[in-house]
Formats: sequence, structure tokens, C-alpha cells
Amino acid sequence: MSKSVSNFLLKRRSVTAKTMLASDVTNEDLDIIISSGLRVPDHGALSPWKIIVFKGKSRETFGKLFLGKRFKELNPSASKDDVIYEEKRFLRAGVVVCVVSSPVPHNKIPIWEMQLSSAAVCQNILLCAQSLGYAAQWITEWYSYDEVITQELTNNNDDRISGFIYIGKKENEPKERIRPELSKVVSYWEKF
Ligand SMILES: Cc1cc2nc3c(=O)[nH]c(=O)nc-3n(C[C@H](O)[C@H](O)[C@H](O)COP(=O)(O)O)c2cc1C
Repeated sequence: MSKSVSNFLLKRRSVTAKTMLASDVTNEDLDIIISSGLRVPDHGALSPWKIIVFKGKSRETFGKLFLGKRFKELNPSASKDDVIYEEKRFLRAGVVVCVVSSPVPHNKIPIWEMQLSSAAVCQNILLCAQSLGYAAQWITEWYSYDEVITQELTNNNDDRISGFIYIGKKENEPKERIRPELSKVVSYWEKF
């Protein structure tokens, strides 16, 4: 690994969807970001994932047809402002990329490994967007676990939403956050 990649990894931070600006992502950059996302370890080369992009008007339309509507169904006493907030969730970013884990039936490779590969897609998309200078965050929020939203975005029962990567523009550079000390999570196996 070149020093510049490790320096980037040691410093990179997510910018929350709440604080990013909803500037558009160029088509050229989006192609680079998604291509990086697909370049992940994938046992058996099964491509057990799907990518759904929300860009431009589709962010608002999906919010109105699904996020706001479903939120109101689940919370009948929700205020109008709360429903509008839900409708506008995707408008917090220029682009929202949904990554779906979509396992492929296989007699040797466990579904768990396919789901891990899908998480790697999310992480690669996140890292690539951040490396290009965009604000980006990987989130799930309530709608990743909602059956109606999941049905709209997936094709079969084993499909699960791995996350939504919000990509926009940084207003401010994010501050560092506390990271675990190596000694707390790392051990060297030396039982010999
Ligand atoms: C699978 C997954 C789901 C997440 N869902 C949320 C979420 O719904 N809301 C949230 O605020 N952060 C969520 N996070 C956390 C943020 O993506 C991120 O970890 C946090 O903003 C700090 O990021 P950084 O360590 O990249 O700077 C999730 C992280 C992962 C890995």
C-alpha cells in the first residue's frame, strides 16, 4: 500500500448527512465511485449485491412516495413537519447510493460471506467518495429495516439493505473522533 493511501485511511472521516450540503456529484465521479464499490473481494465472483442510485429528482420522488408516506402509516399521529422531514431525507445529499446485499444461491459459499462482500461495497463507495473530497456517510436509519421500503428496493427474501451512502459537499472539515486504542481490541495469539 502506498503511503498516500494509508495516510488517507488514517485521517478520513465521515461527514453526517445532516451537516453535508446537497451539491450534485458529477457523473464522471459517480462512475468512479460506483466502479470502486464493485471492486471488492467477492468469494466465487458471484456479484451478490445490487446498487440503486438516487440522483436529481428521484431523491424527492422516492421521499414523497415511500419515506414520508410509510412514516405516516407507521406513525399516524406524526406532525406534518415530521412527515416533511422524512420526505426530504434523501435531499440532504447530492446523491444517495443504496447498496443491497443480494445473495446468489450456492452450495459452498455461505450467505454470510456474500453479506460481508456487500458491506465491503459500501465501504469502498464511502472511501472512494471521501478520497475525491466529497462529504460522505454510510447510514441505515429506520427505512433500511422497513418491510415496505425493503420490498420496493429488493428482489427476493434473502435481499437485505446494507446501507445508504449519502454523498454531498463538505461545509466544514469534520473533526477527529475518538478511536479505540489498539490494545483494547487487538491481541496477538501466542499460546505456544
Ligand atoms: C452499517 C452501518 C450503519 C450505520 N447507520 C447509521 C445511522 O443510521 N445513523 C448514523 O448516524 N450513523 C450510522 N452509522 C455510522 C456512520 O456511518 C459513521 O460510522 C459515523 O458517522 C462515523 O464515521 P467515521 O468513522 O467514518 O468518521 C452506520 C454505520 C454502519 C457501518
